Amino acid sequence: MNNYFLSALISYFLGNFSTSYIIGKTMAKIDIRDHGSGNAGTTNVLRTLGKKAALWTFLGDGLKGAVAVFVGLKLGGKNAALISALFVVLGHDWPVLLKFRGGKGVATTLGSMLAIYPLQAIFCMLIGIITIYKSRYVSLGSILGICAFPFFMFFKGKNEFILSLALMFLILFTHRTNIKRLINKKERKIGQKVEIR
Ligand code: G3P
Repeated sequence: MNNYFLSALISYFLGNFSTSYIIGKTMAKIDIRDHGSGNAGTTNVLRTLGKKAALWTFLGDGLKGAVAVFVGLKLGGKNAALISALFVVLGHDWPVLLKFRGGKGVATTLGSMLAIYPLQAIFCMLIGIITIYKSRYVSLGSILGICAFPFFMFFKGKNEFILSLALMFLILFTHRTNIKRLINKKERKIGQKVEIR
């Protein structure tokens, strides 16, 4: 099997490993996608299950992004790693094993970015953290953080730049309802809790 195809396939199924789904099921016997914003991700776990669960979600989802990149790197070098970065996020956002209802890909994108270009990823993360700290909107921080990535990747090579644009457009797409809520000033702020019913 072609190494690029294999990297994409393994990464996609790694992406299907949804930390928030597993944590929701094991900690509270809930499907996280039926609570809060309905997103299988760190922010929704934070508002639904608390800080500790959110931290594990962030680490788990981030780690799978990094692991996918290393798998790609081993299988087919740099270009395979870039393909892996894209496919692990696709697997997280639209997991076939969870009937295509996944997350928005922020932690997984960040994990793969950190594995490919750590310095650029850290700058993007800082932009995100400062935005979240100032605005209290995780979605806004995620959006601004990823939007900075293509600027940093512009000089790194054509394929890297294309990947950064693809990751950015994926985040913008998965955050389309957040963007609408931000515009209408209806977005939830960090720290707002939801009751499990
Ligand atoms: O990580 C996703 C975050 O940016 C927004 O999540 O649950 O508020 O839609 P949520």
